[in-house]
Amino acid sequence: MGETVKLEYQGKIYEFPVVEGTCGEKAFDISTLRSQTGLITLDPGFLSTGACESQITFLDGDKGELLYRGIPIEQLAEKSTFVETAYLLIYGNLPSKKELEDFQHHLTYHSMLHESIKNFYDGFPENPHPMAVTSAVVGSLATFYENQLNVRDEREIEITIHRLIAKLPTIAAYSYKKSIGQPLPYPDNSLDYASNFMKMMFSTPCEPYEVDPLAAKALDVLLIIHADHEQNCSTSSVRLVGSSMCNLFASVSAGIYALWGPLHGGANQAVIEMLQEINDTGGKVKECVARAKDSENPFRLMGFGHRVYKNFDPRSRIIKKLAHQIIDKMGTKEPLLEIALELEEIATKDSYFVEKKLYPNVDFYSGIIYKALNFPVNMFPVLFAMGRLPGWIAQWKELQEDKNFKIGRPRQIYQGEKTRDYIPLEKRS
Ligand code: SDX
Repeated sequence: MGETVKLEYQGKIYEFPVVEGTCGEKAFDISTLRSQTGLITLDPGFLSTGACESQITFLDGDKGELLYRGIPIEQLAEKSTFVETAYLLIYGNLPSKKELEDFQHHLTYHSMLHESIKNFYDGFPENPHPMAVTSAVVGSLATFYENQLNVRDEREIEITIHRLIAKLPTIAAYSYKKSIGQPLPYPDNSLDYASNFMKMMFSTPCEPYEVDPLAAKALDVLLIIHADHEQNCSTSSVRLVGSSMCNLFASVSAGIYALWGPLHGGANQAVIEMLQEINDTGGKVKECVARAKDSENPFRLMGFGHRVYKNFDPRSRIIKKLAHQIIDKMGTKEPLLEIALELEEIATKDSYFVEKKLYPNVDFYSGIIYKALNFPVNMFPVLFAMGRLPGWIAQWKELQEDKNFKIGRPRQIYQGEKTRDYIPLEKRS
């Protein structure tokens, strides 16, 4: 046995093997802990617990490093496209020209939805949150392909992957168009992924619509940056649901719901709402920072802090630069960007944030760009989900192919009542 960790308990020594990752991370494998010692571990929020070994994404929280299949996010944001990055994450390597053309072809020719899905949108109340709609419709796709959901059939998994990536933009655009009473659009097969989504979102049947290439490029970069992030909350949800051998549509639907939370992907909407509130109440940035520091106040500086990044979030740096480029190109002043810059300036010099290692995360500046591209605020988490979809798929697929595949079933320590008898109603106080 290589390097080990020794545990002494009740006078006995137990040894557990150390597992080392290709980038130097180390863990000790406790899978035999309970059978050897009768003990389990307890780690609410999984601060020190690894759920799996994975070859997809590597984060170094101290160096602020993010690699997709070994390639730095900065290089992919500059040189790749979202469709190519999706292929890289799912299949492990950058595609050849032919592989990329075939992949793009599948995504283009699976982007339409079954016409009856349009009826779903009539059933929702006025202006429903698009995350609720998107997750519900994604989950319902399983009813249209019930004979192609075998999670051990490579061909059925492949066509499900194509359908999900191809249809999510259409599903998302439908939820927006329905909310503003406009006709539900059809995809345009002549356009690339980001441009097609922009056109479905903002065109109407009444006049021609030209996609702004700068806007489409900015969206494509944002989708790349959000594409995966190892075992975050929503990805862990996708894996746990998938571990019951549940189909990919349902697993991704669970991931969308998990992402919606304001502590996770819902933060990009919460950041803009926070910046807007500061702007509408006189721009009192210092007061906002003070509220975030007050332990009696549940308010948090949205878009700040991260479980892994304790130095800086590399994605935030790329997005901040992109936000400046977009705003400068549009020649408009964006007061919310000014407020965000002032917030960052104050918070990153404040001992509370420095000591707790709280820096801007991926959600802090992304909303500034989404707003500049005219996306409604409640669509921001949906844009995050569109970006994260290839990561969810890659992680779910890696789980299904894992030679040590097991259903996820954490243990617990019970702190409730000890055994006691039932008390008949008439004898209760
Ligand atoms: C995403 O995991 C991922 O990779 C996620 C993600 C991805 O790509 O999938 O990167 C995407 O979800 C980014 C995070 C978006 N969420 C927010 O911006 C919401 C605001 N941030 C937080 O609530 C918080 O920082 C988390 C949820 C991001 C991280 O929470 P942790 O790691 O559980 O840390 P914690 O809540 O225990 O905070 C540690 C301390 C606490 O103070 P003490 O109790 O120790 O005194 O820092 C404080 C917190 O109160 N703190 C904040 C704060 N974030 C943490 N105080 C003020 N403002 C904040 N934003």
